[in-house]
Parts: sequence; C-alpha cells; structure tokens
Amino acid sequence: MASEMGHERFRPETVAIKAGRPVEPGQPLNSAIVTASNYIQGGDRSYSRGDGTETSEALEAAVEELEGGWAVAYSSGMAAVSAIFDELPTGATVMAPADCYQGVAMILEAGRAHRGWQVTRLATDDTDRWVASLGSGPDLVWLESPSNPLLAIADVPAICTAAEAAGVTCAVDNTFATPLLQRPLDHGATYSMHSATKFIGGHSDLLGGLVVTADPQRRDRLGQRRVLGGAVIGALESFLALRGLRTLPIRLARAQATATDIAIRLSKHDAVRSVRYPGLSTDPGYPVAKRTLSGPGAVLSFETIGAADALDRATMGLRVITVATSLGGVESTIERRARLTGQEHLPATLLRLSVGCEHVEDLWDDLAGMLHRVAELDSGRAGSPEDDQPRPERGA
Ligand SMILES: Cc1ncc(COP(=O)(O)O)c(C=O)c1O
Repeated sequence: MASEMGHERFRPETVAIKAGRPVEPGQPLNSAIVTASNYIQGGDRSYSRGDGTETSEALEAAVEELEGGWAVAYSSGMAAVSAIFDELPTGATVMAPADCYQGVAMILEAGRAHRGWQVTRLATDDTDRWVASLGSGPDLVWLESPSNPLLAIADVPAICTAAEAAGVTCAVDNTFATPLLQRPLDHGATYSMHSATKFIGGHSDLLGGLVVTADPQRRDRLGQRRVLGGAVIGALESFLALRGLRTLPIRLARAQATATDIAIRLSKHDAVRSVRYPGLSTDPGYPVAKRTLSGPGAVLSFETIGAADALDRATMGLRVITVATSLGGVESTIERRARLTGQEHLPATLLRLSVGCEHVEDLWDDLAGMLHRVAELDSGRAGSPEDDQPRPERGA
C-alpha cells in the first residue's frame, strides 16, 4: 500500500502519473498488456483468476498509492460493489443513502427480498441521522458522495470517523469524486469503491471496478472472493484504466472548470427550473462539499421546464453532447434518468450531464440550442417531431 511505496511525498497529480510503473533499468516505461490465464509453475503466479496479471497489479498499485490502502480490481464497478455486499450475512442491517446509483439500489432491494436485510435509506446530507444510526450497530453503512444522479453530498469525514469509532463497517462509493477529490480511507472508511468505467478510465472504452481498503485481512477476503466469483478485470481493461488514470488530473481539472461554468449559466436560464451541482454556492451541498471534497466534480443535474417527451425530442437535436447512459468520459454525455426502469421516482425532466473536455462554448451552444427548443415546444411554437431528428455532425 501507499505508505510502503514511497511516493507519499508527491502530490496526487504526480502520483497518478508515476505510480504503478516498472522501475528497473531496461524495463518498459509502461506495464505490458499481459494476456495470460496460465503461468509456468514455480513462480509467484499460477492462474490469473486467482493472482491477477502484471497489468491488473499495476492498476491496483497506482490506485493504492492514490487512495492509501490495498486495492483489488474487478471486472466492473458492480462487481466491486457486489464484493462488498457479499460479505453481509442473511438478516444484515444496512444504512444506505436515499439517492444512490440504481444498481446499488437494486442490490439493496434484492437483499431485502431474498436475504432478509433490514435496509434503512437516509437522506445523504442528514449527517446527524447517519451518526445516530451507528448506535444500532448496523452491519454496513454505505455512502455515495457526490450521489448519482442528484449530486447530494455526504459529510464523509464526519460519518466515516464516527463509524470507525463505533466499529461499524463503512463503504464509500467514490466514483463521482475519484481518488483525486476524496480519500475516504483517510477518515476511517473501511472501503472506498470505484467504477473505473467512469472517470478513472475516462474514455468510455472499458468496464472495471476497484475496492480499496486499509485492512489487510479484508483485502485478503476481497481477493479470495474475486477468485471464487471470477470477476477479474481483463488485461486490456487494466491497461486502459491505468492509461486513463495518468490523465485523470488534467481531464478532471478541465471538466470541472467547464462544469462549474455551465452550472452557473444553466442556473440563470429561463428554461431551467433547478440545477444540482455541489460547485454552485447556492447548492444545498456546497458548504459540505467545499469542506470535504477537493473539487465539485464534473457531473451535474438540472431540471427543465416543459414535458418529458418534449425534452426527449429536444435532446435528439444535440450535436456535441451525446445522449448516453454512462459518464465520466472525455466526451460529454446526457441522460434523462427518469426514463430508466427503477428511476421513475426522479423528476421527469431531470437531465444528468457528465461534462467532458470539449470546449465550453461548444457545449454551451449545444445546451442553449436544446433549451431554446424546450422552450419552443413548451409554448407550442415548435414544428413536428420529424424536425427533431439528430442533425449531422458539423462539417459532415
Ligand atoms: C456511482 C456508481 N457506482 C457504481 C456504478 C457501477 O459501475 P459499472 O457500470 O462499472 O458496473 C456506477 C455506474 O454507473 C455508478 O455511477
């Protein structure tokens, strides 16, 4: 883990670039893509489902240095989530946020239905209730901050510190914050978890997940579970995730600055009802985000005026931003989340925008065009749905 690796004196921007590389003279600067399942008997590795590969280990080593724990890499974020929830016994008590990634919400529901879990969902920002809930000795406290899709902010340091003092296992889904904006293990979290599919990979070209823990026994149990569950990350995915991690600091800095700019512009737009972004000083999560995160991240949500189907028509005309379900890439993506099964509780016209690295003015022109269309449709001035077919890319 980090303290043993000697890069602690470097800042995260440097660690992201240096960590997890070969260091011996004559070795390649980057870890090779090792596509072996089998290893010749007699060495440290025998089979990559159990031992990983040099490539997955390089990814783990880099994340270990950034987060300050031992990392286990998985085949997806959900495999990483499942590795934590698989530890829970039948009849477990779980505290979880009211707003969280829908896959986690589905795991909670399945646990309630089939394994007798007692699940309590708390408002992410109700720190007092989270801390008070620890008195009942839950088996797991699950946090997600900033949350998907409402960007709610939990006081991760306060809740994790209290959980550690109470001896309660506490996991933080750190996907939106990334290891650069929040290090939950520093505050006593038992686990920090990532969908590497998102910002760590950063190019929408891989699936991967990570769990980081400072407890060596838990690390061993996670590793053992991965052997048996078989949810190992592939060599190419490991390579791409590590390559993505190298540029995470600059991608995030750029995307975050753009997201802040766009959030401000959206909040002043007549066709926008509300904006949720922890970087806006008017956002309810702003004070805690300012104290607990090194930055507000690059995802925001906003609600528009008008009807949901009109909004769907308007988003079809976007030319820079892609309508797509994942996030955290260099390319901006947008989605009306209430369209998805299990997300019907969300406001019908809530759009989640993952801000990428395009030029801010191109992004804004795109959004402003969409909002103009929303306003037109809302006032009945718009043409037929055929007019809303995607327009060709610029220059095509
Ligand atoms: C916050 C969060 N956690 C976990 C996941 C699951 O990750 P994956 O899709 O890599 O399985 C997602 C995916 O969107 C997510 O947004």
